[in-house]
Amino acid sequence: MPRRAAKQAPSRDLLGLQGMPAEELRAYLIAARTLAAKETIKPMLGNAVLANLFFEDSTRTRTSFTIAAAKLGARCVDLNGASSSVNKGESLADTARNIEAMGVRAMIVRASQSGAAALVAEAVACPVINAGDGRHEHPTQGLLDTYTIAESCGRTKNFDLGGLRVAIVGDVAASRVARSGIAALTTLGATVVCVGPPTFVPGGIASLGVSIERDLDRVLPDVDAIMMLRIQFERTGEAAKGQALVARAPGIASIREYRERYALLPHRSALMKPNAVVLHPGPINRGIELDEAVAEGLRSVILRQVSNGVLVRAAVLARLCM
Ligand code: NCD
Repeated sequence: MPRRAAKQAPSRDLLGLQGMPAEELRAYLIAARTLAAKETIKPMLGNAVLANLFFEDSTRTRTSFTIAAAKLGARCVDLNGASSSVNKGESLADTARNIEAMGVRAMIVRASQSGAAALVAEAVACPVINAGDGRHEHPTQGLLDTYTIAESCGRTKNFDLGGLRVAIVGDVAASRVARSGIAALTTLGATVVCVGPPTFVPGGIASLGVSIERDLDRVLPDVDAIMMLRIQFERTGEAAKGQALVARAPGIASIREYRERYALLPHRSALMKPNAVVLHPGPINRGIELDEAVAEGLRSVILRQVSNGVLVRAAVLARLCM
């Protein structure tokens, strides 16, 4: 069976944005912008079949890849982790090799273990796209967030984000979305500040090239974009949300207290610059990190993120699968 040695360069896969040069990031973003300008997208991938290997829940990401593939003329087949032979003890690498042997052009992998997509990429010769691996990376989300910020701030000409200030608020420690977003945004010149209690935004996060702030109200007047994150309750192993919150953030007594200090409430949104925008990768825990009125408000570009996600994923598929 073809192994990694058959591959020429690591860029045949998209496993993460950390360490990706600015030129490569721009190439993806410009490809997405080019697709956005087209009335119809050519079915560049002909009749190719792609495999969605999702071992963790997903609504947006899986559907977005499926629609992106369809726009390029390709089809996605879904391998549902919950009903796959991985549950009978088959290794992820064996599963991936079997799916590859059936003749797929690329694999899109989501799993709760960090490094899962890289493991699949080692096992197969076709391109592998990481659709979220544990707390590690979610590169297409990072690209679509960066695209949406550039679009909202009038920076899609060359995707130079110099001078822009972006806040990422909440459970950064558990967030693969934050890790990928930070990598792309800082490489393209934006300044990123992470905001939250120490257990959600530990001091070590500064090594990613961001600054850290505990007081949300202080950063709001200076930012051009703010990304609110969901508390990743499922990554604590605790069933009840309140218990999980206290377990993960012992300095916070309850969801109500978290909300008071870190939620983007209407009076906080009013402190932001007139043109500053609000992002959220979804799914939103409404009433916890984000209020209904703000999620639906004029600053919200949350549905733009979803629309741009299809373009960015189509750009990634076209670039890696042609
Ligand atoms: C995120 C994910 O799954 O990593 N969602 C997404 O892909 N749109 C964020 C989350 O689950 O909170």
